[in-house]
Amino acid sequence: MNAPQDLLDKAKTAFENAYAPYSKFRVGAALRTTSGQVFSGANIENASYGLSRCAEQSAIQAMASAGERELAEIVVYTAAEEPASPCGACRQILYEFGSDALVYLVNEAGKEKRFKVRGLLPNGFEL
Ligand code: THU
Repeated sequence: MNAPQDLLDKAKTAFENAYAPYSKFRVGAALRTTSGQVFSGANIENASYGLSRCAEQSAIQAMASAGERELAEIVVYTAAEEPASPCGACRQILYEFGSDALVYLVNEAGKEKRFKVRGLLPNGFEL
């Protein structure tokens, strides 16, 4: 199954808006909640590198700040040669709100990979 077109379009827009002057590696993410709401985010870097935020984290922050708690699916878009895979921290952040959510990784060339969050993060941390 391909990435949903509406999320892909929004992930591309977020990618265009990414602030990545240090790594030059832009990432856009767009997600849908189980209630059907859509949120997006981009990576936002900082001169103090450790303060940089990943695109998935930005999108989840927008979602959770709006009071939404259940992630259904997320598209992560980059210009990488292979569709970029979420970092370990992002996997745990996605897991918090949707261990069964679908993750579509898409690149500029249109190559796609699809995973479940729990497939990317087996035995994620829970309290
Ligand atoms: N980045 C993301 O936005 N998501 C990930 O899952 C991995 C990395 C960003 C962080 C940084 O701005 C740039 O990609 C290079 O690491």
